[in-house]
Amino acid sequence: MANKIHKLADNLVNRICAGEVVERPSSALKEILENSLDAGASQVSVELVAGGCKLIKVTDNGSGISAEDLPLTIERHATSKLITEDDLYAIKTLGFRGEGLASIASVSWFTLSSKEQTASIGYQISSQFGEIQEVRPASLNSGTIVEVADLYHNIPARKKFLKTEGTEFSHCKSIFERLAISNPEVAYKLTHNGKEIYNLPSSDLISRISSLFGSSYQEKFFTITEVGGEELYLSGYVYHQAYLAQNKNVQLCFVNGRFVRDKVIQNAIRQGFSGVLHHEHSPNYVLFINIAPNDVDVNVHPSKSEVRFKDSNLIHSFISRSLKKALATNFVNDEQNSSHISSTAITPESDLAIPLAPSWANNQFSQSSHSSTEPWGTAGQHAFDAFYRKPTTINNNDLFTLDESTDHQNTTYPPLGFAIAQLQGIYILSQTRDGLIVVDMHAAHERIILENLKTQLGQNTIASQQLLMPLAINVTSTIIEALHQHKHELSLLGFEIDIIGETMLAIRSIPLLLDDGKAEQLVHDVLMEIANFGSANVILSHQEEILSTMACHSAVRANRQLSTPEMNALLREMEQTERANYCNHGRPTWFKLTMNDLDGLFMRGK
Ligand SMILES: Nc1ncnc2c1ncn2[C@@H]1O[C@H](COP(=O)(O)OP(=O)(O)OP(=O)(O)O)[C@@H](O)[C@H]1O
Ligand SMILES: [Mg+2]
Repeated sequence: MANKIHKLADNLVNRICAGEVVERPSSALKEILENSLDAGASQVSVELVAGGCKLIKVTDNGSGISAEDLPLTIERHATSKLITEDDLYAIKTLGFRGEGLASIASVSWFTLSSKEQTASIGYQISSQFGEIQEVRPASLNSGTIVEVADLYHNIPARKKFLKTEGTEFSHCKSIFERLAISNPEVAYKLTHNGKEIYNLPSSDLISRISSLFGSSYQEKFFTITEVGGEELYLSGYVYHQAYLAQNKNVQLCFVNGRFVRDKVIQNAIRQGFSGVLHHEHSPNYVLFINIAPNDVDVNVHPSKSEVRFKDSNLIHSFISRSLKKALATNFVNDEQNSSHISSTAITPESDLAIPLAPSWANNQFSQSSHSSTEPWGTAGQHAFDAFYRKPTTINNNDLFTLDESTDHQNTTYPPLGFAIAQLQGIYILSQTRDGLIVVDMHAAHERIILENLKTQLGQNTIASQQLLMPLAINVTSTIIEALHQHKHELSLLGFEIDIIGETMLAIRSIPLLLDDGKAEQLVHDVLMEIANFGSANVILSHQEEILSTMACHSAVRANRQLSTPEMNALLREMEQTERANYCNHGRPTWFKLTMNDLDGLFMRGK
């Protein structure tokens, strides 16, 4: 019987592999651009025609390739980046398999021209859908030019799967953007059908991000620089979508310079953002993880965009912890405000007991009608406590009021400025040196209470207040059952509640921070939540949700009239509170309109 099994011809192998490596023009572009970076290029220019389907041309000024090596560039499993098996476990380059160009060359009209820095002339090799041509001399500057024309022209079945020119172009553009972000020091150009799309000079990361995605990515960001171990670092920027003027999602994560899509990382990022992001928003980030090469396997998928970590739990907790820490800062980076935040953030030392008023409260304070006891006095202090539900010292800052005598030039404004009015019982309007801040008072207060409760719970001491009279309420048997099982968890949360009948309970104490006037609804909702979560473990992992329900009940409601000192007290408290930029549901708590913004609206100076 004739032999049925035979080895496939090289060209056929290449085409089969090309199906995996070169899915579409953008995947060919990725392979070529990665090679330019591996070759140490500082300038890379990309020309595309018809979304890359007709032509992809990449010119770099990298190391170049010798005439002898040229044929090997398009031979499968030929690479300059890997020598021994050990190298495979310590990969520092983007390429390592020696497959990229061989695959592309088998399914396109391919030309590679290259000149080494020290060589007097350059050389060129080409391949017509896998038919390799002789190496020839070529005239070019030092570096490499790769041209890929008519991708998949020889495989109509495959070509059919390519989408419209516009779609293919947008895929190519994304690939270009990723590589431009991962190497901001490299100058990049991109043209499509002869039109310039990007011309990016060598720059730093934040300027590169804003040239690609818009200026708001340069205005409000949280910086991350964390060390997680001897060879484990996380750096980059995260964004809260509520503060981005552009409606574009930027979600880029690089491991050792390689763009990756990884479930462990994505999940850790989501967890890092939990509690501060509205459910309709997505996290925005540009993050770089640098890890010892032998702690991560990059040889997982033909597109090299998946990785496997040796210790994925460690990576997960490192990333989510670092993000939580960065997002907890009071204020997003804001050039106009940042100097004030660090230098004049209000300190507890400036309370009434200490006569030294902060500099921005100087003359105005002593001239104002407020003395150290007015308007608070004893009644004022009570009103304040009722508002905050916690023992608080009043800052001189709270009492400061802007009036006609205020010397704006010499007043040092705190980050959220000084309250000037309350709007429709919902918003606090506050003046800063350079404009107006609008604060959603309920949302802000809710966050302040939540963070306070979290801190207290972290110290195992949610302070509680005894009700003057125990409050008896009628509830369902499910709630009685939940109370029965979770009395301990409830006491940790600051509640003392007894079962006094089949469907009756008595509320004796509630957390001090919360409003006793709403005890019934509050206890009912917390118990409902606890009944839904069930076991003690689940309750533990949903603590923040329970605290959030508690905070929501007690935050100031719309139409509650606040005095100017009360409003200022809220603003100062926000400045001291972690995550105060957004409410417990991830909505922003404040917005700023600068004088420039306002002048623009009124076309002043136009
Ligand atoms: N722009 C370039 N400048 C200098 N050398 C290059 C360039 N492009 C390719 N090469 C050389 O050609 C070789 C083959 O490239 P190819 O992309 O096929 O494989 P690789 O980069 O080694 O691995 P991978 O298949 O993982 O990308 C590279 O190892 C490199 O030596
Ligand atoms: Mg390569």
